[in-house]
Amino acid sequence: MNKTIETINNHRSIRQYTKQDVDEEQLTAILEAARSMPTSIHGQQLSIIVVKDSKRKQKISELAGNQVWVAQAPVFLVFVMDMNKTAKAGEITGLKQVLHESAEGVLVSSFDAGLAMGAAIIAAESLDLGIVPIGGIRRNPQEMIDLLELPEKTFPVAGLVVGHPADLSARKPRMSEKGFIHTETYDDGAVKDAVREFDETMAEYYRNRGDKESNWSSQVSGLYQSVYYPKVYPVLKSQNFLLDK
Ligand SMILES: Cc1cc2nc3c(=O)[nH]c(=O)nc-3n(C[C@H](O)[C@H](O)[C@H](O)COP(=O)(O)O)c2cc1C
Repeated sequence: MNKTIETINNHRSIRQYTKQDVDEEQLTAILEAARSMPTSIHGQQLSIIVVKDSKRKQKISELAGNQVWVAQAPVFLVFVMDMNKTAKAGEITGLKQVLHESAEGVLVSSFDAGLAMGAAIIAAESLDLGIVPIGGIRRNPQEMIDLLELPEKTFPVAGLVVGHPADLSARKPRMSEKGFIHTETYDDGAVKDAVREFDETMAEYYRNRGDKESNWSSQVSGLYQSVYYPKVYPVLKSQNFLLDK
């Protein structure tokens, strides 16, 4: 195995940070890694907002459901689906952009933002920094949009806390290969087995941490029985991601 793969396989989310700043050089390297990722059609339909201002981080922490690590760490990166950028191409050529109104537009811009975040995570962890992704920024998306002054045809899809870890949490188990990797065609039976096995693994993980009795199925099904961030759909539409094509 090489160092890059070791870094990736050693990932864990960090929710306790020291006060130490992230060097400008380190931050630049993380952002360069994010910017170097491939994007669909070379459309580069994502942007990253770098937030360091403590008042703004505090506000984001509250909007995300009082996630204190957002305010505690020195840097918060917001990964934005950005089809405002691609619409500028149409302003130059006179061709009106329609893609942002489609499911395809939402998929490609959120996928590109996710790829960029993946690279930022690996880069940060390779520098011995800690990270935790924050989907909680979609809890109150309109307030996030106002706070970051995001234009139409953009949407803050996820954030990334970056800082120096104050504690190294244990690596969280993953479902076995059966639940992830298929050969040639999808094997639904293997997935069913993998889920049952993983419930045992997670039950033991929670027991060892002294948490209350739980497992993966009860956690995920409990959350997925409703849309936990119901404001996403109306705000996506008001940002002109109409999702009607
Ligand atoms: C897109 C995305 C959004 C997430 N949102 C949050 C969040 O809002 N708050 C949080 O504490 N963790 C969040 N996480 C972290 C996950 O809970 C974490 O990755 C998962 O439990 C696995 O743990 P690990 O990262 O330590 O391996 C998010 C992860 C991803 C990929």
